[in-house]
Amino acid sequence: MTAEQSNSRSRSRSGSRSRGRSRSRSRSPSAVAQSFYTRWATLYDALARRAPGVGSVRTEAADALALDPGETVVEMGCGTGANLPYLAERVGPEGSVVVVDFSPGVLDVARERTREFPQVHLVRGDATRPPVARDLDASPAAVLATFVSGMFDDPAAVISSWADLVGPDGRLCLVDLAETTDSRWRPLNPAFRVLVRVTAPPEPRTMRASPTKLLNRRLVAAHRALESRCRVTHETTHALGFARVRAGVVE
Ligand SMILES: C[S@@+](CC[C@H](N)C(=O)[O-])C[C@H]1O[C@@H](n2cnc3c(N)ncnc32)[C@H](O)[C@@H]1O
Repeated sequence: MTAEQSNSRSRSRSGSRSRGRSRSRSRSPSAVAQSFYTRWATLYDALARRAPGVGSVRTEAADALALDPGETVVEMGCGTGANLPYLAERVGPEGSVVVVDFSPGVLDVARERTREFPQVHLVRGDATRPPVARDLDASPAAVLATFVSGMFDDPAAVISSWADLVGPDGRLCLVDLAETTDSRWRPLNPAFRVLVRVTAPPEPRTMRASPTKLLNRRLVAAHRALESRCRVTHETTHALGFARVRAGVVE
């Protein structure tokens, strides 16, 4: 290969890289997130199900919803469906699990998982304006969202709308990752920030400055909204304080 060919190849590679970057800059954050989760669905699925400790956090979240057989539970931003077995088992074959996600790639993986669970219904839609109420005869009993609240522009409004969806006595549970506030493990926060930067969907310039700060802000807003709409029934931290589970009953 001549130097000219090599240069023109690297020019064209860097050209396509910068075109890629400017494409993701010009698309909306939700379009960028949908292609990100679609592209990485298989890898994400392995992490979502096999990361150390994640199974016990999912069990705890499903327990915190206090589901009874026959009830309907909605999962917002279900991803590849890692929570499906936990929810389906609790509502039983006479109940319903409605799972909502806007990324087609993760829903394809989740669809495979639903074969074992006929009570699970997949919905492609926006969790900030869930298209579920009109599909159901009655309000769902509970809403679960794991590792999702940090992706919403206005998490307080979204969580409050979920409280309206389930109504009084309905249950909400949020599970999220954020910097740890446990003084023993705070020295690990810089590593967490790197992890957030490399695993988050590419975002507009404003967010690239500090994705973790934005994530922390959004999670505080989401969990405060849950506290303001619910009587909190469950509050724990895991994974050295990086993971939080909070659940409550809508008042
Ligand atoms: C980090 S993954 C978490 C997936 C799953 N809840 C889990 O615990 O493995 C975030 C998921 O939320 C989805 N998501 C983010 N914002 C959404 C929105 N506004 N509406 C629907 N899905 C959304 C993404 O497509 C992605 O599948």
